[in-house]
Amino acid sequence: RNIAIIMGGYSSEYQISILSGQNVFKHLDRSRFNPYRVLISTEKWVCLDDRDAEYPVDRSDFTTTIQGKKIKFHCVFNAIHGTPGEDGLMQAYFELLGIPQTSCDYYQAALTFNKRDLLSVLKPYGIRTAVSYYLNAGDTIEEDKILEKVGLPCFVKANRAGSSFGITKVMKKEELLRGIEHAFKEDEQIIIESFLDGTEVSVGVITYKGETLVLPITEIVSENDFFDYEAKYQGKSQEITPARISADEKSRVEETARLAYEVLGMKGYSRSEFILIDGVPHMLEMNTTPGLTEQSILPQQARAAGISLSDLFASAVDEALK
Ligand code: DAL
Ligand code: MG
Repeated sequence: RNIAIIMGGYSSEYQISILSGQNVFKHLDRSRFNPYRVLISTEKWVCLDDRDAEYPVDRSDFTTTIQGKKIKFHCVFNAIHGTPGEDGLMQAYFELLGIPQTSCDYYQAALTFNKRDLLSVLKPYGIRTAVSYYLNAGDTIEEDKILEKVGLPCFVKANRAGSSFGITKVMKKEELLRGIEHAFKEDEQIIIESFLDGTEVSVGVITYKGETLVLPITEIVSENDFFDYEAKYQGKSQEITPARISADEKSRVEETARLAYEVLGMKGYSRSEFILIDGVPHMLEMNTTPGLTEQSILPQQARAAGISLSDLFASAVDEALK
């Protein structure tokens, strides 16, 4: 079976996605699969061979030709973070071409990648969130009105982005505008959220061997002001799996993450972020193509559950091919 591991993408998360894709390539069982790395960038779509030589991908049917031989892919392993791999574009493309892929479907991807829309859909199911204020590019920015609603400190975030690009923790009113400008560089929609003072946890929910499986919960302790890019990728945080929370908190987080996965009709991987306040999980977001490097949180959680990366990645392909 030829598996195309797609990696790269068009967003600021390009480099992280390359690391995720390379790690999937490393662990995908060669006795069962024939993996290829396919680099998707704003400049080119190319398939790499074992020596990193590049072969163009025909976008009309997602095939490539290596040394005169046409390669068709039976399945796509989606390791792109951000657009176009996490927001539904690639999912819709592969669905039209009839090629199975490992992440959720295009609608779930588009919905979950949009923090505002995701949280609005989940709220009626009783899932708690921060108090939020939304802005589209061009809207009048009424600082007093915003702060009256969300208070200080608050978080300004790009509505559709990952790896904390575009996020600012705003401590005082004078910092608000700069935070808003920063977020608008990443997306034309932004979300301003009240500060949730509690314990940050992250939990993977995946379909594994035909079942919805909630992985061990990770507690995030950031040395920085929040779990920003540096904390995520430059070691400025501690990620503790399993989280040091009570049994009651654990079951509430598990139930909430599973509920979100199920009501959305998800498949494939997901990793949801919550802040626990007095035992109540408040949802921040859901990632549907989470980081898959050796150090990334979902792989940490899988290992804590006794699942090797080889099994984790093989199961994703098996599920997609069902
Ligand atoms: N967006 C990053 C890659 C993550 O969720 O792990
Ligand atoms: Mg994210």
